Amino acid sequence: MPLVSMRQLLDEAAKGGYGVGAFNVNDMEQIQAIMMAAKETKSPVIVQASRGARQFAEDLYLFRLIQAAAELNPDIPIAMHQDHGNSFETCKSAIELGYTSVMMDGSLKEDGKTPSTFEENVDVTRRVVDFAHERGVTVEGEIGVLGGVEDGHGAGGSGLDHITDPDQAVEFAERTGVDALAIAIGTSHGAYKFTKKPDGSVLKMDVLIAIHKRLPNTHLVMHGSSSVPKELQDIVNQYGGKLKPTWGVPVEEIQLGIKNGVRKINVDTDNRLAITGAIRKVFAESPEKFDPRDYLKPAREAMKNVVAARMREFGQAGHAGDYKPLSIAEIAKGYKDGTLTTRPLVASK
Ligand code: 13P
Repeated sequence: MPLVSMRQLLDEAAKGGYGVGAFNVNDMEQIQAIMMAAKETKSPVIVQASRGARQFAEDLYLFRLIQAAAELNPDIPIAMHQDHGNSFETCKSAIELGYTSVMMDGSLKEDGKTPSTFEENVDVTRRVVDFAHERGVTVEGEIGVLGGVEDGHGAGGSGLDHITDPDQAVEFAERTGVDALAIAIGTSHGAYKFTKKPDGSVLKMDVLIAIHKRLPNTHLVMHGSSSVPKELQDIVNQYGGKLKPTWGVPVEEIQLGIKNGVRKINVDTDNRLAITGAIRKVFAESPEKFDPRDYLKPAREAMKNVVAARMREFGQAGHAGDYKPLSIAEIAKGYKDGTLTTRPLVASK
């Protein structure tokens, strides 16, 4: 089936009370791993590419691979999403290529590093929403700033530096008309999120719940949501890696988020760890091997296992066949005639 609107995937997830994993890709094996997991668990899925991934894979290679994934898996709804677009131009180029969803991360300036002002964020996000919705494409915005750096994008620092203010989240959602809203609650990109199992002092689930209460119909997005499981760290280190002890976002906290409006959960690091661990294992145990398939196959399998586990844990498993995907033209019509409203109903404080 053709690529599906992310908005439809998230609306359906809200109806069913589950979350949908958004998994980052850079190459064919990662796309195959996600599709193997989606097929095994019968899950709708969001595949996403950062600017760095689009550069690494020369854009068209990656996009054609996604189209192949959609063609080979007619029973799986797939949305293709630009992760952390840094400008109107980046989002426009993804839309023109055929992505069905974009993130305009206006929380940072175009350099992808410096926090922007609230007004700058509203302006650029609103422009992207106008352009995207006319073409049936979904928009995710971000308010508050995540910690860490991913693919050269990010303000760095701790996830606690720019936690989302619930009042600003409401104003941002109302003024921009985004379909989904990424919020900062203490998470950061990459492997080094927390120095111990996170509690409420560093992972602000209370802020997430407060935002959901004010914006009960807005799809919330959790970035930096890898769990960085000890088992995956151990495999990397057992075979010569040098990861320092670290903690990610526990799956039960993500599940609490899903009960409170989280519909999209971004996962990249866990898959990177799984791939690296599997490759290191082959290199360490069979140094005589040199056919890339000898290590890419177990790497792909290791990533598939992580993705399938997350699909079950987020609740999207079993939902691939629940609904008939609408065409992007039908979605565009829905935005135009107001049946797909993006003006959130705001609950009082
Ligand atoms: P992780 O680094 O926790 O996997 O987060 C990925 C992410 O949020 C991509 O936007």
